[in-house]
Amino acid sequence: MDAKYKEILDGQKKIGRTVTMLSSLIWVQEALGYLPKDSIAAVAEYTNSSVNDVFGVATFYTQFRFEPPGKHQIELCWGPSCELFHSKSLMKQAEEFAGTKFGTTTADKQYTLRGLECGGACALAPVGKLDGKLMGRLNQQKLSEELNKMKNGKAGA
Ligand code: FES
Repeated sequence: MDAKYKEILDGQKKIGRTVTMLSSLIWVQEALGYLPKDSIAAVAEYTNSSVNDVFGVATFYTQFRFEPPGKHQIELCWGPSCELFHSKSLMKQAEEFAGTKFGTTTADKQYTLRGLECGGACALAPVGKLDGKLMGRLNQQKLSEELNKMKNGKAGA
């Protein structure tokens, strides 16, 4: 196994986490931003599983990415609670802002747009994550402000 993966995966044990196939995939993605091809075999070896099983789990959950993400992550929830609060119009707005569709990264690698099945904060619908920062009760004005901050390098300000 590549030493890079061993170091990443050992991080779980260092903080006393239970190591599973799923936790290991999450751990690698958190560290690298995506799951490189060879990470599947590394997780299989680390968790004493088959490559097929790890690949099956990694492709089952939509949260896993297999390509490097863009510089900025625009994630909007399209789950039922958020859809009730017009998340689709926010998604359209984000697509127009970035110039690409959800599930893709712009050619210049600036923006990756991803849909969330449920952001885990339904009470705050509609919900999004902009560069990893969870935001609730989004509306077109708030989203526009946050996207412009992102564009101008002031995200999270
Ligand atoms: S459905 Fe959007 S946060 Fe749950």
